[in-house]
Amino acid sequence: MVTRERPAGDVDYERHGQGYAVLRRPDLRIEARVHAALGAARTVLNVGAGTGSYEPADRYVLAVEPSATMRAQRPATAAPAVDATAERLPFDDDSVDAAMAMVTIHQWTDVEQGLREMRRVSRGPVVVLTVDAPALRRFWLADYFPEVIALDETRFPAIDRVVDVLAAGSAEVRVDVVPVPLDCVDGFGEAFYGRPEAFLDPEVRAATSGFGLADAAAVQRGVDRLADDLAGGAWDRAHGHLRTQAEYEGAMRLVIATP
Ligand SMILES: C[S@@+](CC[C@H](N)C(=O)[O-])C[C@H]1O[C@@H](n2cnc3c(N)ncnc32)[C@H](O)[C@@H]1O
Repeated sequence: MVTRERPAGDVDYERHGQGYAVLRRPDLRIEARVHAALGAARTVLNVGAGTGSYEPADRYVLAVEPSATMRAQRPATAAPAVDATAERLPFDDDSVDAAMAMVTIHQWTDVEQGLREMRRVSRGPVVVLTVDAPALRRFWLADYFPEVIALDETRFPAIDRVVDVLAAGSAEVRVDVVPVPLDCVDGFGEAFYGRPEAFLDPEVRAATSGFGLADAAAVQRGVDRLADDLAGGAWDRAHGHLRTQAEYEGAMRLVIATP
């Protein structure tokens, strides 16, 4: 197994990536949007591919993933991933029909360079699933874990910036809100908008990098307060309607750049 001396992004997946594939599975409803955005592409490059979530099974996939721990969790049926980074993609100009990056750009060392690289190697769409961090402020989680949300605001690049970079070399860049289903199986934070008890589970928190990077004592204070509010009914009085709300339009965004 080839591991990097230093992680390629702001999270050390060699240490924290174990078990990722269990909690971060592709959600079929989000996947349908991603695959539609890929259009008729026959060859697809997945950058920051992790364990292979959202890769289409019916097309030729190339994957780039710098963490050996993540590469090791790719299913046997998935394409093997190349050890490389977004900032320097080992592919020629216009060599794939489409390029995708799912919930990864916030970890890159140089987001603009990585996006330019995706634009360079794709002769078709560039599809980016990411978070509009200012929209996270509206999520009830911000009341309990303000430090995590504040950190995410500094980590996720502004959507306008992503659009501006991709606009160079694209005829159109569209930003779609991605509604999160109540039973979403991809365990990013908003996936549990109607299942607040999930955040009491350390494994659930560990699958969202913001929790791991924030101050541990502050996170524990939020966990304790959430546990109290759930036990005493305060959470349900304020947000209980979310337990049965079919979808949540929060911060998830699909950026689709077409040449
Ligand atoms: C939250 S995971 C997402 C993985 C996968 N795309 C998914 O949707 O489950 C973020 C991934 O980005 C990778 N990553 C971090 N820095 C990177 C970089 N500079 N270039 C490419 N990938 C990077 C990490 O190793 C990790 O696998």
